Amino acid sequence: MNLEEARKLFDRYIKSDQIKMHCREVEVIIRALAKELGEDEEKWAMAGLLHDMDCEVEPDIKNQGKKVVEILKEKTDCPEEICHAILAHNEENLGIKRKSKFDFALSAADNISGLIYAYGLMKHTLEGMEAKGLKKKLKDKRFAASVRRELIYDIEKTGMELDKFLELAIKAMQEIAGEIVL
Ligand SMILES: [Fe+2]
Repeated sequence: MNLEEARKLFDRYIKSDQIKMHCREVEVIIRALAKELGEDEEKWAMAGLLHDMDCEVEPDIKNQGKKVVEILKEKTDCPEEICHAILAHNEENLGIKRKSKFDFALSAADNISGLIYAYGLMKHTLEGMEAKGLKKKLKDKRFAASVRRELIYDIEKTGMELDKFLELAIKAMQEIAGEIVL
């Protein structure tokens, strides 16, 4: 499977613009992370793009991730690490533990995208957003309360410092600002 095939599959299963935007954000954040950590950018980007691919066909959060992997295994030669990272991003419901840098990166990217989006909504723009301001929002648990802070802090398990991650994630989303509707 390559990114082009992944995108075709994704477009077949996801119709909501909001979900498309979220997955695209996670894709660019995790790709930037892979680049910085010297990991496989395309592989990580595919996991970012595909991680929520079943949320329209499987509305029950308790099962999300499983259906993505079923689809991937049936239709592609998707690497096992991508399947594992996608299952482990729903560790709390599926019991599949995050263990690799890739697993932690996906869950951190998933959650930081939500925090940046919420902060962007508040500011009405992503332009000029800085890591310092974002960090304050990260510490303020009442702000965007559904964002799983602990999974963002887990970025340090990949060997990357939190501040660097916040900076990199903001920049990645700013680069696709034209696709993000606030
Ligand atoms: Fe997600």
